[in-house]
Amino acid sequence: MPLPPDSSSPSSSSKLVYFVVVIPLILLSGLVLILNHNPSTTFSWPLSFLDALNSHSGARAPAAAAEGPEPAASRAALQPPAAQPTQDQSLVMENVQSAKTAKFGKTYTNLDNLDMVEASLAQARATIQEAQRNNETSYDPDYVPTGPMYRNPNAFLRSYLEMEKLFKIYVYEDGEPPLYHYSKSLGILGIEGILIHQIEISKFRTRDPGKAHVYFIPLSVQSIVAYAYVRHNRAWSPLQNIARDYVKLISTKYPYWNRTLGCDHFILGCHDWTPMISNAVPDLFKNSIRVLCNANTSEGFKPSTDVSLPEIYLPHGTMDGLIGGMPPSERSVLVFYAGGIHGYIRQVLMDQWKDKDPDIQIHEYLPKNMSYYSMFRKSKYCICPSGWEVASPRMVEGLYMGCVPVLLKDHYAKPFNDVLDWSTFSVDVPVNQIPDLKKILTAIPQEQYQEMQKTGILVRRHFEVNFPPKRYDVFHMILHSIWLRRINIQLHDTHES
Ligand SMILES: *[C@@H]1O[C@H](CO)[C@@H](O)[C@H](O)[C@H]1NC(C)=O
Ligand SMILES: *[C@@H]1O[C@H](CO)[C@@H](O)[C@H](O)[C@H]1NC(C)=O
Ligand SMILES: *[C@@H]1O[C@H](CO)[C@@H](O)[C@H](O)[C@H]1NC(C)=O
Ligand SMILES: *[C@@H]1O[C@H](CO)[C@@H](O)[C@H](O)[C@H]1NC(C)=O
Repeated sequence: MPLPPDSSSPSSSSKLVYFVVVIPLILLSGLVLILNHNPSTTFSWPLSFLDALNSHSGARAPAAAAEGPEPAASRAALQPPAAQPTQDQSLVMENVQSAKTAKFGKTYTNLDNLDMVEASLAQARATIQEAQRNNETSYDPDYVPTGPMYRNPNAFLRSYLEMEKLFKIYVYEDGEPPLYHYSKSLGILGIEGILIHQIEISKFRTRDPGKAHVYFIPLSVQSIVAYAYVRHNRAWSPLQNIARDYVKLISTKYPYWNRTLGCDHFILGCHDWTPMISNAVPDLFKNSIRVLCNANTSEGFKPSTDVSLPEIYLPHGTMDGLIGGMPPSERSVLVFYAGGIHGYIRQVLMDQWKDKDPDIQIHEYLPKNMSYYSMFRKSKYCICPSGWEVASPRMVEGLYMGCVPVLLKDHYAKPFNDVLDWSTFSVDVPVNQIPDLKKILTAIPQEQYQEMQKTGILVRRHFEVNFPPKRYDVFHMILHSIWLRRINIQLHDTHES
């Protein structure tokens, strides 16, 4: 492998080669496992994770397995629950392989911090796993997660506290607003701007990139679309070029991108086109943590690596006036939906239910005598269908106003699914069962409905947007999702001679 033509290469023959080992326990099936209720039923994991990958996928054994150091961490990992190998494994194998080939011609002293960073993460990982195994509760004066919505409340609390103690995010400083470091924080995509801003000013931010666990690429997808998209030629390349140029800049100027080919980097966007823009850089798409509203698993969203971002619409920029609704007994409308016919799912919904049944209030345009939010406040179930993209602000509106969300979506990865069991506070109706909507919802016993409604109100705190952020709110939950995905990989360095 030729070195970059860099004459300042140290004369020492030591090159640094970094590669990524995925902690298999947590990775499988989208991290559910580490935070899951049931202690894992054990089966013994093969000797090395790489071997496991090899035997799973047959032919494509990464060369790294033969010549690299033993991936000690993967062996030290706990026995994973019995789970079928998922598609994600082969993806991981590619990471291991490609990251292995990332080489530097230069040594960077601040890379020496990597061992310290990794040691602290290893400690956190062990503590979380212990909390899960031993079913021990930690103490938190503000809030102790309890209730049916948590897959494993103890592991979640421990993980959350470890995050608060340790997690450090480096935000690349290059680039000027509005394309970088800023995004609109009003409108239905506003969560993009809110979170970018909150990350920039948060206590989790470090100015020392050597101490960071993750690196934030502060692109503003909304601004890129607003400034670089030329409607009449409909070309995506100018948008993608902006992302490509930025990654090129940071990967040339700093060592961190090349070290893992983006595995410990993240981007965040609520705009539908974020996945397309991230696709400009194959390693960004494949390796990095992409925090997306458009969490469509048919379009490359990977629940184990990417983070599903809830779409949250705050008409006046804050939650004021949005929280609360009638108690269950005073909710007089069974089902409510109003909205444009964007996409095929809503078309099916309209065809089946518009103006058909007084219990099923499905509207394209809201009648003049009804207010949108007051319908959320007095309905039992609120339909959240996909539109042009999978996410919709209705899901969080339902939780804010006590209306149980009914998700009509295909290929949607739900937010915080690694921590929260959505089946305890929402209903999934498969798209092909839309004709049975009423039958499905009326078959839910009243007690179960009341339980879901109550749980939805309790879970609301994780979707709240606060200025400044409060513990356990949506800002912290998004960071926690990123944190989980970071502790699921381990970076190694090796010195080749
Ligand atoms: C964990 O502890 C709680 C009460 O402290 C108990 O209800 C629950 O069954 C325990 N779970 C396991 C898996 O031991
Ligand atoms: C990272 O890799 C790219 C492409 O291989 C190279 O052009 C760049 O100089 C490298 N960056 C650093 C900091 O060495
Ligand atoms: C709105 O008006 C229609 C008739 O125009 C009536 O049937 C319906 O009950 C009214 N709804 C509300 C919420 O007042
Ligand atoms: C999700 O992705 C699939 C595959 O590209 C696409 O057919 C579907 O329409 C997408 N769903 C939504 C709601 O955009």
